[in-house]
Amino acid sequence: MSKQPDFIKLWQHVSSQFRCGSDSIHGPPHWKRVEQNGLLLASRTGADVVVVRLFAVFHDSQRVNESKDDGHGVRGAEFAASLRGSLFDIPDAAFALLHDACAGHTDKQQTTDPTVGSCWDADRLDLGRAAIIPHERFMSTAFGREIARCGSVYPFLPNAQHGQSGGLNVSDQI
Ligand SMILES: [Fe+2]
Repeated sequence: MSKQPDFIKLWQHVSSQFRCGSDSIHGPPHWKRVEQNGLLLASRTGADVVVVRLFAVFHDSQRVNESKDDGHGVRGAEFAASLRGSLFDIPDAAFALLHDACAGHTDKQQTTDPTVGSCWDADRLDLGRAAIIPHERFMSTAFGREIARCGSVYPFLPNAQHGQSGGLNVSDQI
């Protein structure tokens, strides 16, 4: 029997063991943007929202450095497995997607699965933090490609204001 994870408790626990420090570009502020991107993507892709949110908090949680860290995706998946049944629980099929998404996000390019694809696109759409422009050819979902073509996730967020609407001036654009 599974219930909605207590994400506040989960974030506190996972953040507290993160080894790369509070100013890491792979740390909790990045996880939060991945969650935001993933929820946006899920609104069109039909991704499992709980899996997307769990991916956000686990996928980089076992990094030990800021550069090439082979295996951190698999370690993130195994860390999630170690907490399943205590800090959160989800059905077997959903956990299999979470495990695949975490383990594969480091070296697999694309997938046709909408949940795993939304996870990977959500992560890649935050590459701007590392001065890398996300490219649509690395996206798995059609919505991810649309966002990448635009160059930013922000115009797609709810309550985004668009420059072509009346009444805005230059100072609104900066
Ligand atoms: Fe990431």
